[in-house]
Amino acid sequence: MAKLGIDLNRFILEEERKHPKATGSLSIALMAVEGAAKIIASHVRMAGLVDVLGKAGKVNVQGEEVQKLDELSNEIMVKHLSDSGQFYALASEEMEEPVFPEQGKDAQYVIAFDPLDGSSNIDVNVSIGTIFSIHRRINGGVEDFLQEGKKQVAAGYIIYGSSTMFVLSTGNGVNGFTLDPSVGMFLLSHPDMKIPQKGKIYSINEANAKKWTQPGLVEYIDRLKEEGYTARYIGSMVADVHRTLIKGGIFGYPADRKNTSGKLRLLYEASPMAFLVEQAGGKATDGNRDILDIKPTDLHQRTPVFLGSPKEIDQLLEFIK
Ligand code: AHG
Ligand code: MN
Ligand code: MN
Repeated sequence: MAKLGIDLNRFILEEERKHPKATGSLSIALMAVEGAAKIIASHVRMAGLVDVLGKAGKVNVQGEEVQKLDELSNEIMVKHLSDSGQFYALASEEMEEPVFPEQGKDAQYVIAFDPLDGSSNIDVNVSIGTIFSIHRRINGGVEDFLQEGKKQVAAGYIIYGSSTMFVLSTGNGVNGFTLDPSVGMFLLSHPDMKIPQKGKIYSINEANAKKWTQPGLVEYIDRLKEEGYTARYIGSMVADVHRTLIKGGIFGYPADRKNTSGKLRLLYEASPMAFLVEQAGGKATDGNRDILDIKPTDLHQRTPVFLGSPKEIDQLLEFIK
């Protein structure tokens, strides 16, 4: 069992040592994500004092208004991950096409990320995050991103909340590290995270209930209310999933008349979060399939998402079948 307080770098190196054939490349890749996260965290902490709040005056590939911090976080991720030389290609919510860094021509991994998740919460000092998903490079080209979520070699998120946390899985459970700002290190604070078998919270944007297209969903939420559940919805996926991992229950973003395939993006939102939740003993579905079994066809495709404790997901599937 991992020792409490070990720092993320050492943890990554010790994990690597468990795989005799490892080249060290994934360790350097993860450390590059960690470095970028620390820089983003320091900008988030200064928001309001320096000019990073507000809109950038652009619309992204998703047709959504780009915030200054979205853009800045994307630049930081692209620069650090490219410089690490460990990534053959980078895909981001904020970029229509992937980037193939010069330094990564012979690299073994591709990474997809949401540089800043929870844009609507940036200006109001509510938790936001960064999400990433790493796959092995196979043939070279955009197709390397179109691999099932179950083939992820690592996935994680960083939450910029009341503290900054890095939650990581390399397919061997889930571990959470809290940034100690006085030394600038992520220290293991949540070893071997396990989602409760059942929770008491549901997390869904119920304002859309009249527009939901998934039969049985309204009835399922009504059942949860009858069973005494309470509602929590932050509107930053990272924060809502983080709470779900720790306290259990269910988080969902279903399809509706406006977002006919749901709102959340498969590659850099749904799939990495599903990987973490399943690694912690939970379940993740689009209503028909395990999220991790979906073979992507497009870099920016969306999917309905329901994830959380096994009890709630099983009960949901009973209602919507
Ligand atoms: P992003 O800020 O990266 O565009 O993601 C926003 C997402 C996600 O964080 C959250 O779960 C969802 O949008 C909230 O959407 P609604 O405001 O429609 O509830
Ligand atoms: Mn997002
Ligand atoms: Mn985003």
